Amino acid sequence: MSLLEGSVGVGDMVLLEPLNEESLLKNLHKRFQHKEIYTYIGNVVISVNPYQQLPIFGPEFIDKYKEYNFYELKPHIYALANEAYQSLRDLDRDQCIIISGESGSGKTEASKLVMSYVAAVCEKGEEVNSVKEQLLQSNPVLEAFGNAKTTRNNNSSRFGKYMDIEFDFKGSPLGGVITNYLLEKSRVVKHIKGERNFHIFYQLLAGADAQLLRALRLERDGSCYFYLNHEASRVDGMDDAANFRVVKDAMNIIGFSTEEIQQILEVTAMVLKLGNVELGDEFQANGVAGSSICDEKVVKEISDLMRLQPEVLERALCSRTMETKKEKVVTTLNKIQACYARDALAKNIYSRLFSWIVNRINENIKVSDSAKKKVMGVLDIYGFEILEDNSFEQFVINYCNEKLQQVFIELTLREEQEEYMKEGIPWDKIEYFDNSIICNLIEHNQQGILAMLDEECLRPGMVSDSTFLAKLNQMFSKHNYYESRVTQNAQHQHDPSLGLSCFRIQHYAGKVTYNVNGFLDKNNDLLFRDLSQALWSSKHPLLQTLFPEGDPKQVSLKRPPTAGTQFKNSIATLMKNLYAKNPNYIRCIKPNEHQRQGLFSSELVGTQVRYLGLLENIRVRRAGYAYRQVYSAFLDRYRMLSQSTWPHWHGQARDGVEKLLEELNLGPEEVAFGRTKIFIRSPKTLFYLEDKRRLRIHQLVTLVQKMYRGWRCRTNYQLMRKSQILISAWFRGNAQKKRYGKIKASTLLIQSFVRGWKIRKEYRKYFRSGAALLLSNFIYRRMVQKFLLGLRTNLPSKITDHSWPPPPYKVFTRANLELKKIFHHCRCKKFWDQLSPQKKEVLKEKLCASELFKDKKDSYPQSVPVPFRGDYVMFREKPKLQKLQRDANEPVLMADTVNKVNRANGKMAPRILLLTKSHVILADAQGSKVKTVIGLENVAKVSVSSRQNGLFGLHLTEISSVGSRGDFLLVSEHVIELLTKLYQATLDKMKRQLPITVTEEFTVKFKEDDVTVKVIQSQKEDVTNKVTCKKKGHNHLEVSSQ
Ligand SMILES: Nc1ncnc2c1ncn2[C@@H]1O[C@H](COP(=O)(O)OP(=O)(O)OP(=O)(O)O)[C@@H](O)[C@H]1O
Ligand SMILES: [Mg+2]
Repeated sequence: MSLLEGSVGVGDMVLLEPLNEESLLKNLHKRFQHKEIYTYIGNVVISVNPYQQLPIFGPEFIDKYKEYNFYELKPHIYALANEAYQSLRDLDRDQCIIISGESGSGKTEASKLVMSYVAAVCEKGEEVNSVKEQLLQSNPVLEAFGNAKTTRNNNSSRFGKYMDIEFDFKGSPLGGVITNYLLEKSRVVKHIKGERNFHIFYQLLAGADAQLLRALRLERDGSCYFYLNHEASRVDGMDDAANFRVVKDAMNIIGFSTEEIQQILEVTAMVLKLGNVELGDEFQANGVAGSSICDEKVVKEISDLMRLQPEVLERALCSRTMETKKEKVVTTLNKIQACYARDALAKNIYSRLFSWIVNRINENIKVSDSAKKKVMGVLDIYGFEILEDNSFEQFVINYCNEKLQQVFIELTLREEQEEYMKEGIPWDKIEYFDNSIICNLIEHNQQGILAMLDEECLRPGMVSDSTFLAKLNQMFSKHNYYESRVTQNAQHQHDPSLGLSCFRIQHYAGKVTYNVNGFLDKNNDLLFRDLSQALWSSKHPLLQTLFPEGDPKQVSLKRPPTAGTQFKNSIATLMKNLYAKNPNYIRCIKPNEHQRQGLFSSELVGTQVRYLGLLENIRVRRAGYAYRQVYSAFLDRYRMLSQSTWPHWHGQARDGVEKLLEELNLGPEEVAFGRTKIFIRSPKTLFYLEDKRRLRIHQLVTLVQKMYRGWRCRTNYQLMRKSQILISAWFRGNAQKKRYGKIKASTLLIQSFVRGWKIRKEYRKYFRSGAALLLSNFIYRRMVQKFLLGLRTNLPSKITDHSWPPPPYKVFTRANLELKKIFHHCRCKKFWDQLSPQKKEVLKEKLCASELFKDKKDSYPQSVPVPFRGDYVMFREKPKLQKLQRDANEPVLMADTVNKVNRANGKMAPRILLLTKSHVILADAQGSKVKTVIGLENVAKVSVSSRQNGLFGLHLTEISSVGSRGDFLLVSEHVIELLTKLYQATLDKMKRQLPITVTEEFTVKFKEDDVTVKVIQSQKEDVTNKVTCKKKGHNHLEVSSQ
């Protein structure tokens, strides 16, 4: 939620209208009623103590404020802490958080909020967490020992605390240093009614178990103890017993050992018990008043705790040794002096214990010097106090607050205004109250009250608090901020409230009347040397270290610096420290005097508003600028926001800034250019710049990251590539080597095999095993040679000679047969080739006759040696016969005389048969008349007897003209030749094979009838092949022949 949206009243009082004290108070009141306890004046947080727990703290709020800028959410201490932390982390500027306000206004609570915020936002990690824990846990311990209930605050800080939290460059806490300022130790021995001693005493009595109490020689009942005012006052809402456990746990966490904790408690118990050491009057023999211990038991218990002889303690309490350069004089102390010594001892032991605890904590949280660190200081000092009876402590406390106010004035009012003027920024001076005059009154080196006090303490002669007051009266008789009875009298004023032994200072926060009684003593802060020596000699390790000056070897006659001087010096150091850092202010306001929630006393708040100078603060703030920076630093920080100034600006820094802001288009009212610095009016503009810068840095970082990643990837890739190439080269090399090795091995193997084979081949002949083969081959070849040579000499001489020499060995049987066949074929071929064509014809006919009749017809073998003459009738010589041929007009292939069997009776009649190329001509025996001409195409088949006879049937086709008269049954003496030539003529002419059936029984057709011709064996011995036919029945013809 924005600062302005839905806010109650005005969240930032710079915007308050009209601006006067009344409206300011009204605004604070209104906001307070609505539980809005925080209000801004620019970057200063005004915090009004709510005296109640509000639900605006805790982790979720921390997370929220972490995310937003200062003005983006409701005013809160978290916002200020966040601003300071971020500025420390990002801008590298040491920070200090100055928390000021009256006692009870909420400073300590505010400081704890700041610390818890910083602890929560900064980085996490085991080491960091332990540092954070230690820093946070220092609070309960210091509060137990350094806080007490006062009339104004139940948990009032009775010491000043400045804590430097140290961070590394990342913003993680490394450790810290705590500086404590003057503990109000007088409280140990005395406090007014209604107040309490330091919390630890009550916590110890309430929280320690019986065993511990026994060990510490303590009673649980607080009323037994004189230093507790005989009353064990309880504080509402404060559980001492529970807090005791918290303190012990915290000490453990910080790193105190169990022994150390025990010793601390023992020392605390000693202090408490010292109050119960009752001292009585005692007169010495010489009549001088002395003192004595009334109750030895208590001293005994204390000395037991101190591990000291009771007499030593007793002596130290009741006497004093005066030491000069020459002699030592022991004097007894009277009762008052002894009581003073006792109380001084108790106060000293306690305040030294407190400082020891702070140092011990520092030891644990300290950072090594070498580490570069950034620092955030948190100052929580006791608040301004006005009591009924104000003493040295209040004077010191108020002085401290006066100084803090001075810091505030210096930094927010004076320096700021001076700066505007110095830088030449138009400025109307705003008046404010400058408290340096009061600071001077107190701290001036020669004429300040503290200097006077010191002088009085050191001055020889009769000095007392009243001589000190007289001196002050004299010195400041005319001082505007100093008053006393004397100065009043001088001015004829009468004020009964101002006591005789009092002086009054008009502090920035109001007039305070101080009673000078005890000032000198407190400033001297004297502890008789007898006491410190006695305690140093104790066997208690912690107690002994608290009194180093008790060591006789360290005896120094020089006075230690007074309490006032010490305090002044430490405050001076603190101021120096604060001025060196960037201040952040939390100004705490107390709404009422009764620590009551919801009660807003305008009068009380008005006083605080006035002395805190809030109105002036608002006025300066309104007219002024929220932010300033020297040009070069500003340019350095924001130059990335413009193209002209990024990455380099070569001109003057101021010109660069002008250019930059011009490009960013910030209105002229928003910025002012001083001589050396740029001023920015509203924080919003600054946040705008910061946001832009953050965005831009994000972009730049992304760019750098991108480049870096790219570079890393590239180099990585190149490395990988190189490695890959190397690996693959090695791999390939290796693979090739392996392959080569394999090939080589194989080649060698093959080579060796081949060589072996070659050599074996070459040398095989020399092998014993090869000899058999060689021999057998040789023998075989010899045998073949012999066989073939033998064959050559025994070849048959004639072609008709079918003899063939037998093979000399069985193995050649097949080859011999083949050779015989080949030889015969070869002979035949040779024989055939040398024949004349006529002879070849004759042989062809013979061959045909053989194919037709061989082994079929009985007369065939006789026909083989007889050559085929063809002409058996002297055809060429008989012109008559030649006439017959003329009819056929074709050459005569055969001319023969045949007998034609009469079909009717079986009688035979001679005929002349002429065979031409296409006809068979039958003529009468005289050859005068052609009887029948048969075309070869009409001869269907021929049947012939297988016997010696020459009978054959000439079957004609039925469709032929001669056919109708029937087939011819003929007898020829040259039947083999005749049928062979008939066969061949048919084949030549008709391209048809004439079927010739060799049979003893066949059927011939005579006109319409079929006559079966059967050849039978003739009974008569006839050399001639005489054939006789007898008709048997109608269609049977019996032919008998040889
Ligand atoms: N923010 C807060 N919320 C609730 N209560 C608070 C807050 N701040 C202060 N208080 C109450 O006011 C009391 C006094 O506050 P605190 O001790 O911080 O005052 P102080 O300014 O340190 O006073 P002194 O100067 O005496 O040390 C606290 O004990 C607490 O009860
Ligand atoms: Mg406090």
